[in-house]
Amino acid sequence: MMKEHRQCFAIFFFIYLVFCSSQFAISQRLVNFISGVPTLWINRPSIGSILGRGILNYTPILLEGNASLRFLYGFSCDFNHTECFLGISLVLYNSTGETIYIEGGQLVWSANRDHPVQVNATLQLGRDGNLVLADSDGTLVWSTNTTGKSVSGLNLTETGNLVLFDTTNHTVWQSFDHPTDCLLPGQNLVSGQKLTASVSADNSSQGLFSLTVLNGSWATYIDSDPPQFYYTSENPDSPYWSFDGHTLTALQYPPTSIAQYIQLGHDGHLRVYQLHNLENSMFGLNWKEVGDILTLSDCRYPMVCGRYSICINGGQCTCPVEVNFFKPFSERVPNLGCTVLTPISCDSSQYHSLVELKNTAYFSFRFNYELNSSVFWLKIEDCQRACLSNCSCKAAVYVGSLDVSLPGSCLLLNEVFSLIDSSEISGTTVFLKVQNSSYAPVISPRQKLPFKVIIGCTLIGIILILSVCSALSKKRSEKHKAGDFLDLEPILPGILTRFSYNELEIITDDFSRKLGKGGFGSVYEGTLSNGTKIAVKHLDGVGQVKESFLTEVKTVGGIHHINLVKLIGFCAEKSHRLLIYEYMVNGSLDRWITQENGLTWHKRQMVILTGQRLRYFVHWNINFDLNFGI
Ligand SMILES: *[C@@H]1O[C@H](CO)[C@@H](O)[C@H](O)[C@H]1NC(C)=O
Ligand SMILES: *[C@@H]1O[C@H](CO)[C@@H](O)[C@H](O)[C@H]1NC(C)=O
Ligand SMILES: *[C@@H]1O[C@H](CO)[C@@H](O)[C@H](O)[C@H]1NC(C)=O
Ligand SMILES: *[C@@H]1O[C@H](CO)[C@@H](O)[C@H](O)[C@H]1NC(C)=O
Repeated sequence: MMKEHRQCFAIFFFIYLVFCSSQFAISQRLVNFISGVPTLWINRPSIGSILGRGILNYTPILLEGNASLRFLYGFSCDFNHTECFLGISLVLYNSTGETIYIEGGQLVWSANRDHPVQVNATLQLGRDGNLVLADSDGTLVWSTNTTGKSVSGLNLTETGNLVLFDTTNHTVWQSFDHPTDCLLPGQNLVSGQKLTASVSADNSSQGLFSLTVLNGSWATYIDSDPPQFYYTSENPDSPYWSFDGHTLTALQYPPTSIAQYIQLGHDGHLRVYQLHNLENSMFGLNWKEVGDILTLSDCRYPMVCGRYSICINGGQCTCPVEVNFFKPFSERVPNLGCTVLTPISCDSSQYHSLVELKNTAYFSFRFNYELNSSVFWLKIEDCQRACLSNCSCKAAVYVGSLDVSLPGSCLLLNEVFSLIDSSEISGTTVFLKVQNSSYAPVISPRQKLPFKVIIGCTLIGIILILSVCSALSKKRSEKHKAGDFLDLEPILPGILTRFSYNELEIITDDFSRKLGKGGFGSVYEGTLSNGTKIAVKHLDGVGQVKESFLTEVKTVGGIHHINLVKLIGFCAEKSHRLLIYEYMVNGSLDRWITQENGLTWHKRQMVILTGQRLRYFVHWNINFDLNFGI
C-alpha cells in the first residue's frame, strides 16, 4: 500500500515537473517555433551575464536545442545597452528554477549590422507576412520583404537557420540566404550571395572584404569598382567546406566537433573556429581558431600594410621612397598605410605623372588576370597612357611578356591597397599616379602687379607679422606656465590629440558621469563626436603630478599593446591637466577583484583551469589579461 502511494506520488510529481517546466518555457517564449500572426517583440535586454565576450544582454525570441549549447534568435545588446543587434547567436544556456542564464554568445548572423538599434526597438511579424525591425524611434531598420507571401510563422532550425514558413509549411524566407560574415555547417553559399567581413573587431558594419561564388570558382575580393580579387580557387582547399563549382557548403569537420563556424575576418582572413571545453565555459564560449582557409602569405592580403604601403617579405611595411609624394600615416604604426601628400585632382590632370616602382607586385594581379577582370594586353607605354588618360585610374600594374617584342599584361587600379616587394621576381612594375603640386597658379615675376594689390599685400603682411609675434609671445608666456606640454607635440606627432578644456566639458557632459577615483584624480566617462567612448582622467594637484603626467603621456602615448589602454590625447590648459584614454567596458580590475559579485574564488579557479582571457582595465592604465592558465 505504502509502495503504491509512493509510486503514485512520483508519477504526480513527474507530471507536475513536466507541466511546470513547459509552462515556464512558453511563458518565456523560449521555444523554437512560433505560429500564428501578428506577433510583436520589444527589445528589453534582461537575461544575460556580466562576464562574457562582448555581447552581454539578451532579449530571446526563439531558442533551439536542449543541451546547454543553443542557438538563440533575438536581440543581443552590449554592456551599456547602447548597441543592440537582432540576430542569431550560439550561446550557453542554463536555467535554475525561475532564473535563466545565458553566457557570452557568438553572433553568427544579424539582421541589422549597419544599423544597431536601441532598447525598446520592435520586431513585428505583421498580418501581411512581413517581418519588420524598427528602432525605438520608429525608424525602419530592416525587413524580410515578404509582404503578401502568406507567412504563417517562424522557426529556428537546429542548424541555426531562421525560417519564415507559409500555411503549406514551405520556406518563404531564410536567414541562410542572407549571410553576414559567417557560414555555419550545413549552410550554402551560391552565386549571387556573399559573405562580407566587418569593418573591425569593434565595428560590425560591412567592411572591405567579401567572399562569393563566381564562374565556377569561389573568390575573395575587395568590393571596389571594379572588384580586386585576392584569392580565387576552383577547389574547396579545405576540409571545412565542399565546393562543386556552384555551391559552397560548410561542413562539420571533424563530424564529432561540438560546434564551429567559418568567418571572413575584418583583415581578409577566412578562419574556421571550433568550440572546445564546453564543460569549462564558465565565462562564455571558448572558441579556438583551427584553420585559415586561404593559404596566402601575409603580404598577399590587401590591407596588410594599409594603402600605398609596400609589404616586404616577413610582413614589414614601408612607404614608397618618393618622399615628395608619400609619407607614413603614422611613424610608429607602420601598417596603417601611407598618405598621398597631394591628393589627385581631376581638374588638373595635366599635372599627373606616374612614379615607377620596379620589382613591385600587386595582390590582385594574378586573380584578376585569371578572371579576365580589368587586365588588358598592352605595350608598357600604352599601359601608362591608359592610366594617365583616365582620372579614375590611380595606378597601373604591368607584367611584361618573356618575349619583349610582344605586349604584356596591364592591370588598371581605381584604388590602391598594399603593394608587394618582389625583388626576387623581376618583371612586375607598379606605376603609381601622383599629382605634381605645381598646378597651384604661379604668378610670373615679370608680370606687373597693380599698385593697389601691392599696398594691400603689404598691409596684410604687416598685420600677419604683428599677429604672429603676439601669438608667439602669448604662447611663450603660456609655455612658461604649463612648460611641459608644448614639448610634447613634437614628440608624438599625429598620435595624440590635444583637447581644449571646453571640448572636454562638452564631451563629458560637464564631467557628470564619474567612473571612479584614483590616486591622481578622478575619471569621467565621455563620448567623442564620432561616438567613440572615452575615459577622461582629471589630474588633481598639478605641481606634484607634473613628472608623472609627462612620463605617462610619453610612454603610454607611444605604445600600442593589447594589454595597455590606448592614450588618445591630453589637455593642458591653465591649471587643468587631463588625459584621455580609450574606454574599457569592463571597468577597473580592482573593482572585479574586490566586488562581491565579481570574481569569486570559484571563478578565479575557473580562470586558471580554462585559461580564459578576461580583459580588464587596471587602475585605468593597464588593460590586464587575466590569463593564468597559459
Ligand atoms: C522603454 O519603454 C519603457 C516603457 O514604454 C520606458 O519606461 C523606458 O524608459 C524605455 N526605455 C528607453 C531606454 O527608452
Ligand atoms: C563603423 O564603420 C562604419 C563604416 O566605416 C562607420 O560609418 C561607422 O561610423 C562606424 N561605427 C562606429 C561605432 O565607429
Ligand atoms: C578568360 O579569357 C580566356 C581567353 O579569352 C578564356 O579562355 C577563359 O575561359 C576566360 N576565363 C574566365 C574565367 O572567364
Ligand atoms: C575610366 O575608368 C572607369 C573605371 O575603370 C571606366 O568606367 C570609364 O569608362 C573610363 N573612362 C574612360 C574615358 O575611358
